[in-house]
Amino acid sequence: MHPIEHLQAKIAASLSNLPIYREPAGLYEPISYTLQQGGKRIRPLLTLIATQMFGGNPDKALPAATAIEIFHNFTLLHDDIIDQAPLRRGRDTVYKKWNINTAILSGDTMFAVAYGQLAGSDPQQLPQLMQVFTKTAIEVCEGQQYDIDFENSGDVTIDAYLNMIRLKTAVLLAASLKIGALIGGAAHQDAEAIYRFGENMGIAFQLQDDLLDAFGDEAVFGKKTGGDIIANKKTYLYLKALECSSPENASALRKWFCTRDSEPQVKIAAVLDLFNKAGVKQHAENLIQDYIKEAMSHLDAIRLVEKARAPLLELLSGMLKRNH
Ligand code: IPE
Ligand code: IPE
Ligand code: MG
Ligand code: MG
Ligand code: MG
Repeated sequence: MHPIEHLQAKIAASLSNLPIYREPAGLYEPISYTLQQGGKRIRPLLTLIATQMFGGNPDKALPAATAIEIFHNFTLLHDDIIDQAPLRRGRDTVYKKWNINTAILSGDTMFAVAYGQLAGSDPQQLPQLMQVFTKTAIEVCEGQQYDIDFENSGDVTIDAYLNMIRLKTAVLLAASLKIGALIGGAAHQDAEAIYRFGENMGIAFQLQDDLLDAFGDEAVFGKKTGGDIIANKKTYLYLKALECSSPENASALRKWFCTRDSEPQVKIAAVLDLFNKAGVKQHAENLIQDYIKEAMSHLDAIRLVEKARAPLLELLSGMLKRNH
């Protein structure tokens, strides 16, 4: 069993050997800028961990793991255009540093490079892996579209929000694990159980991201805090605050989330004040715990020796403590 650091080194090596150091520089530089600036690389790690959990050699999963990380980074390039986000991983976003057209096209290239990497998987397993990967990529787009739709909707429910984050974020974490499990030779029901584990964990992960966006420390988070508030994102924090506020405060909150031209810092301060008055931080933290508990119940359904689960539990506990 390889320790986590060992698996991380394999991912880093694989990402630095990609065919992305070529001309035209205008297309490829933003790609290496994105892939070399790090990120937590949670998804490819989940893939390799899942493969070895089921007794497979993580090297066999490296093409798929690399594909997943490139795909994830591609979604970030386009997501930052959609969200008009200026900062990622403590640096300018691609569309800010270059321009929107470049971020679109470099992103498109990354999507194709991701498929190219996936194609390096065992030919016997490739059709099944392609199916999971493609289904997931489509679902991420569906989630992103709901996210956009909700910016301009006044009647988003908490259930609709949870389904949106399941699609835009959780299914990729779930698929990372499932793909790893399939490569490791997991039985069908175990591959499904680890998918459910990842899905619940992924919902908790996005709830955490939304919390950090509102309450995090920008210097550590690496993204502009308050961005979701400025973009009128209907996060759990907002929806729960509406539920827990006095009628006056709820109506003030609704008003803020209809505006697009207010002074950013004034709006952020006012909304955070309303969030605090409604006590939504605690509600979100409780909900995160509920999803982690649900995730663990799916992991417990898989018969594994305790030792095999250790790297996954180590990664999970690191994720739960994250501040970026
Ligand atoms: C960011 O994902 C997008 C979300 C789903 C919240 P990560 O937080 O995994 O981003 P990096 O890759 O570590 O920067
Ligand atoms: C991320 O949602 C979902 C995808 C990138 C598919 P966010 O918009 O919250 O992610 P960040 O906060 O920009 O990383
Ligand atoms: Mg975003
Ligand atoms: Mg977004
Ligand atoms: Mg976010």
